[in-house]
Amino acid sequence: MHDPLDNGTARAIWRGQFPRPANRQTVCVQGLGFVGTAMAIAVANARDEIGEFLFDVIGVDLPTPEGQSKVDAVNAGKLPLATTDEELVQAFETAVANNTLTATTDPCAYQLADVTIVDIHLDVIRGEDGQPTVRFDGFRKAMSVLGQTMRPGSLVVVETTVPPGTCEYVVRPTIAEALQERGLPEDAILIAHSYERVMPGKEYYRSIVNFWRVFSGTTEAAADACEAFLSKVIHTKEYPLRRLHATTASETAKVLENSYRATNIAFIEEWGQFAESVGIDLFEVIDAVRVRPTHSNIRQPGFGVGGYCLTKDPLLAGIGARELFGIEGMDFPFSSRAVEVNAAMPKRSVEILRQQLGSIHGKRILLLGVSYRQDVADTRYSPSEVFVNTARAEGAEVVCHDPLVAFWTEQMEHLPSEIPEPHTFDAVVFAVPHREYQEMDVTRWLGDARPLILDANNVLTEEQRLTMRQAGCPMAAVGRGNH
Ligand SMILES: NC(=O)c1ccc[n+]([C@@H]2O[C@H](COP(=O)([O-])OP(=O)(O)OC[C@H]3O[C@@H](n4cnc5c(N)ncnc54)[C@H](O)[C@@H]3O)[C@@H](O)[C@H]2O)c1
Repeated sequence: MHDPLDNGTARAIWRGQFPRPANRQTVCVQGLGFVGTAMAIAVANARDEIGEFLFDVIGVDLPTPEGQSKVDAVNAGKLPLATTDEELVQAFETAVANNTLTATTDPCAYQLADVTIVDIHLDVIRGEDGQPTVRFDGFRKAMSVLGQTMRPGSLVVVETTVPPGTCEYVVRPTIAEALQERGLPEDAILIAHSYERVMPGKEYYRSIVNFWRVFSGTTEAAADACEAFLSKVIHTKEYPLRRLHATTASETAKVLENSYRATNIAFIEEWGQFAESVGIDLFEVIDAVRVRPTHSNIRQPGFGVGGYCLTKDPLLAGIGARELFGIEGMDFPFSSRAVEVNAAMPKRSVEILRQQLGSIHGKRILLLGVSYRQDVADTRYSPSEVFVNTARAEGAEVVCHDPLVAFWTEQMEHLPSEIPEPHTFDAVVFAVPHREYQEMDVTRWLGDARPLILDANNVLTEEQRLTMRQAGCPMAAVGRGNH
C-alpha cells in the first residue's frame, strides 16, 4: 500500500525556511498548552557540546479559535501564555530568534517528525453511573493522526497524564491500526511514556530542564530512543533519568505522586479546622513537626486545591483499573476522598466570613487572587471559582483581583489591573500568595479603612499581619485560631 508520506506538503508549512541544517532532528509537540508550550521551548533550546541547536520544533495545536490563537502567537514571536519566569521568556525569544520554533494547526507537520511529544489534555468527567471516567475519544483521535502521518522508526513520547495502562491498551493499538492501514508493520512507530513534572511559576523553565524524569517504552527500542532524546533536552548529568520496566509503571508513578500530594493536603484540612476551633496556630504546629526528616513535607492548611492536575489525577488509577484492566472494586478511597475534601475547601473560607460577619448577604468582599496557585496565570479549576460562586449564591458582592489575570475565562469576568482600594469592602480575602500581595505596603493600602482581613492561604507575612492587627483590622486566618 502507498505510504501517504509527503514531506513536500509538510515542509511548506515551515514558513519557507528550508533548507535546514542537515543534522538537526525535527520534533513536533502535540498540544501548545501550559506543558506543551514550555516543553517546545525547552526542546527548541537544546544544543550540542559546541553550542549548535539540536532540534527544529513544530508546535501543533487544533484548528479551534484557542488553538489557532496559540499558533499565531508563537509564529508572531509572542509567548502564548503569561508567566513570571524570565528564563522561560528568554528561552522563547532565543528559539524565535534562531528559528528553532514554529507552530501550525496542520497535522501533516507530523510527517516531518523524528519525535512527537504528546502534551494534549485528557479530562476526567463523571460517567452516567456517577463514576469518574476520561474522554478517550479525542485522545484516540490524536493518537490515530500520529499513526497516519509519522514516519516508520520515529518516536512518540506521551507526556499527557493518563490512567495507568493507556500506552499499552489505548496508544499502542490505536497507532498500530493506523499503521496497518498504511501497510506498515504495527510496531513501525516507537512508543514511550515520560511524564512532566513541570511547575508553572517562578521556576517554570528550570522545572523542565533541571529536574529528574521517569520514562519507559512499550519496547526496549522505544525506551532506548526516549532515553537518547530526553538526554539531549534535560540536564541528565545532574538530574539522571529513571527508567521503569513498563509504560504502565511510568504512568502509575505520575498518578501516584500527584495522588500522594493531594491526599497529604486533604489530610491537613481537618487539623486546620481543629486549630481554628481550639485557638491554636497550626502553621506553628506544623513547623515544629517538620523538623522530623520523616515528616518534612507535611502540607499546611489553605484556601483549596486547584489547577488541572491535583483535581483529577488522583482519580486516574481507579479509572485505569476499572476501564483498562477490568478490575472491579479497586476504588482508591483515600485518593477519591482527597479530591472531594480539596474541592470543598474554599467553602471553609466562606464559612469563616459568615461566622465573622454574621451573614455575608449584601456584604462587599474583595478577593485577592483567582489563579490556582502563586505566580501562575492558570485559572483552571481554581478554588477562587468555588469561593466566588458560593459567596455570590449567598448574596455577597464579590470583587476579584489577580496581578496575573486580566480576564478570568471561567467566570467571563474582566478584572481590575490595580489592587482595589479597601474602603468600600466589608472583608478582604487573601487567597493566593502572589508576590505582589506579599510585597504590598499594607499601611499605605489600608489608609483609614478597617475591613475584616481573612488570610485564607498563609499569604501575608508575619509583619503584614501584625501591622494590620495593630491598625485595628479584625483578623481571621484559615488554620489559625485566635490565640
Ligand atoms: N499544567 C501543569 O502544570 C501540568 C503539569 C504536569 C503534567 N500536566 C499534564 O500535561 C497534560 C497537558 O496539560 P496542559 O496544562 O498543558 O493542558 P492545556 O489544556 O493547557 O493544553 C492542552 C493543549 O492541547 C491541545 N490539543 C488537544 N487535542 C489536540 C490534538 N488532537 N492535536 C493538537 N493539539 C491538541 C489543546 O488545544 C490545548 O492547547 C495534561 O495531561 C496534564 O495533566 C500538566
